[in-house]
Amino acid sequence: MKSPYLSLNPFIPWMKEKHPVEWPKKFGRSAELEVEIGFGLGDFLVQQAQAHPEKDFLGIELGWVFIRRALRKIALAGVKNVRVMQADVRVALERIFLEKSLRSACSLFPCPWPKKKHVKFRLFSHAFLKLINSRIADDGEVLIVTDSRSYFEWILSQLSGTGFEARSKMVSPRFSTKYERKWYASGQEKFYELRLTKRKHIKIPLKEDMRLITYRVDRFDPEHFDPPKRRGQIMVEFKETLYDPKQQKGMVRSVVGEDNLVQDFWIEIVRKEKLWHIRPAKGCSIIPTAGIQRALDLVYDSTSG
Ligand SMILES: C[S@@+](CC[C@H](N)C(=O)[O-])C[C@H]1O[C@@H](n2cnc3c(N)ncnc32)[C@H](O)[C@@H]1O
Repeated sequence: MKSPYLSLNPFIPWMKEKHPVEWPKKFGRSAELEVEIGFGLGDFLVQQAQAHPEKDFLGIELGWVFIRRALRKIALAGVKNVRVMQADVRVALERIFLEKSLRSACSLFPCPWPKKKHVKFRLFSHAFLKLINSRIADDGEVLIVTDSRSYFEWILSQLSGTGFEARSKMVSPRFSTKYERKWYASGQEKFYELRLTKRKHIKIPLKEDMRLITYRVDRFDPEHFDPPKRRGQIMVEFKETLYDPKQQKGMVRSVVGEDNLVQDFWIEIVRKEKLWHIRPAKGCSIIPTAGIQRALDLVYDSTSG
């Protein structure tokens, strides 16, 4: 049976928050904020929060299964200075953190993507290192520990012009995370530790949310409604359309991809008095971006002929 998360209180539904997020409000105090990227089962996050009650810790993780298990650990440990959120860290750093708003960041055993054709998926690229630099305070630090020599060397090759000074060494296991235990059990006794200290600030302003334009049209023909897909820097696809004649409501499932962000949501076309309103459907969490606007525009174009 799945172990329950016990409490959702430390979970930040960041898409629904005002951006940038006001972190002191989320923690109920002002303290130095440290971020752990890809915290997995949350072991290190909880250890850090227990060891440093004077600081606040935020874990950013892609997978809900990990978040659920970390929430359980947080509740069992009774720590109050930890929050977690589900996001691609690249999107989160761009959109909800002001420049210099973090004290430090760490990532233990990030996915190494060892195959050549997968190198593009590696997280600590030149562009991402510049983004982290802009979000951490002057003299702030980024700690990366990896089992993979080729990933370690690749990160070193990405560093030039990112404003960081690097120190590296081989280290013995000490974090007791799932992946550290896994590699140690398979016979690896030393890992690659990289400490990056911020020496020069890289300016990357917050990516602002768009003010979305929604539409009202005087006709909508669900029989012939077939919005086109779009390729290019912004990718838009419409996956399925539903129509309820009783409610006079159409719903079109839209998938939008831009930069590192993919959003899968519904657009509703609903009749109110004499007009049909086209807008993101209630209940869908979206980040208002140029891609979302593009999808609304395409739906509008297809209803208005
Ligand atoms: C190999 S696991 C390591 C987990 C944990 N740190 C440990 O040592 O056991 C990498 C973790 O990073 C997360 N991750 C990968 N890319 C991410 C991204 N772009 N944003 C946030 N988390 C990410 C994955 O979901 C996964 O849990």
